[in-house]
Amino acid sequence: MPTSSDEPRILVERSGPLDGEVVVPGAKNSVLKLMAATLLADGEYHLTNVPDIVDVGIMSELLAAIGVRTTVDGGGAITLHNDGNLVPVAPYELVERIRASINVLGPLLGRCGTVRLSLPGGDDFGSRPIDMHLKGLEQMGATFEIRHGYVEAHADRLHGVDVTFEFPSVGATENILTAAVHAKGTTVIDNAAREPEISDLCQLLVSMGADIEGIGSSRLVVHGVDPGSLRSADHRTVPDRIQAATYLAAVAVCGGELILREARGDHMEMLLKRFRDMGLTIVDQPDGLAVFAPERLRSIDVATLPYPGIATDYKPLIVTMLSVADGVGIVTENLYPGRFRYVEELHRLGADIRTDGHHAVVRGRPHLSGAPVKAPDIRAGAALVVAGLVADGRTTITGVHHIDRGYDDLVGRLARVGANITRA
Ligand code: EPU
Repeated sequence: MPTSSDEPRILVERSGPLDGEVVVPGAKNSVLKLMAATLLADGEYHLTNVPDIVDVGIMSELLAAIGVRTTVDGGGAITLHNDGNLVPVAPYELVERIRASINVLGPLLGRCGTVRLSLPGGDDFGSRPIDMHLKGLEQMGATFEIRHGYVEAHADRLHGVDVTFEFPSVGATENILTAAVHAKGTTVIDNAAREPEISDLCQLLVSMGADIEGIGSSRLVVHGVDPGSLRSADHRTVPDRIQAATYLAAVAVCGGELILREARGDHMEMLLKRFRDMGLTIVDQPDGLAVFAPERLRSIDVATLPYPGIATDYKPLIVTMLSVADGVGIVTENLYPGRFRYVEELHRLGADIRTDGHHAVVRGRPHLSGAPVKAPDIRAGAALVVAGLVADGRTTITGVHHIDRGYDDLVGRLARVGANITRA
């Protein structure tokens, strides 16, 4: 019988300095949306720079249940086969496993005129409503009923409208966008989210024949094309800025220097500015970034904001860096009020952090002290790994399945640049 000791663990010992090169993989929060977009048109889609992460497998299962088959080509490439026989139902067992399953709503509604989607639940760091998705689609002519835990959506043909978001929601922007591409008329999305992953999705849609203006801005104008006129396309996934930031944080706490190949400095401008304020030297290179750690990090104050601000997904890494920086830093969370759960785990490693509502006050210490800890979600899990690198003795991290959802070989990539880290 399996016991709890069979659960995968990551074992980390105090490490440093790091030295060498890390190739930054493709972005989870892009590839999952690219995959959902393949519901829009029949044909074969070749996606490259696809990270080897669990969530890609779950999205493949969800798409297979709907009617799009995925084959793994190797070398970070996958092919999605859409032969047009779609069953627009997203069942509970798959939807509850990844938030990005909500991204099938827009394409399916536009394509099939009806969708039955299990309501996505909350997350480990709090409630995650979809009211803005539904409101925008309703404006476009969809009707919704919530029954037995499912959203049942109908629309004869969606029509273009002006949608103004009260908040630039990533998921709502993506769902309105993918519904609008073959709606009748023009849809204007104001206060749209403008994360690099949304631009990446727009680029795929344009390759498929969509007509989108304002890519990368907070005003997206989508001129609907005739249903049936979209076609399949190939696409290379944008590099993952959150994984890149994880390696930046690792070298920042361990010391040393790293080359982050494929990292896009232009997608992380605000973060790089603040990391420089903490004492890191970061140099743009033709194919990535070169990063040099200071003797000791300096504390700063940081607030999370939608892109181009500091992403909430960076925050656990920043809190970890502040835990060993010189001085006191205040971190303010503006997106998910409940996203401080990992702080209790950092306390176990000896970090001096006080939280009060949306704020965390972090007093830096020279180093932390290894202990068993549990990853509460993907980003917090990666931050605990980084914390373990600067903790005396051994840190054992459980809850590794969270990290596997979004990190492509975090342990191997860190070990290859000199970190004392293994997976058991
Ligand atoms: N919100 C609403 N109503 C809505 C939609 C959002 O109130 O209809 C609120 C949310 O509750 C939250 C805030 O708006 O407080 C931000 O939500 P958003 O829709 O922007 O986020 P998301 O699309 O659900 C994506 C990423 C998250 C990332 C956020 C913010 C994916 C699959 N997820 O989520 O990534 O934190 O944007 O940048 O793209 C992760 O990768 O670990 C992760 C959680």
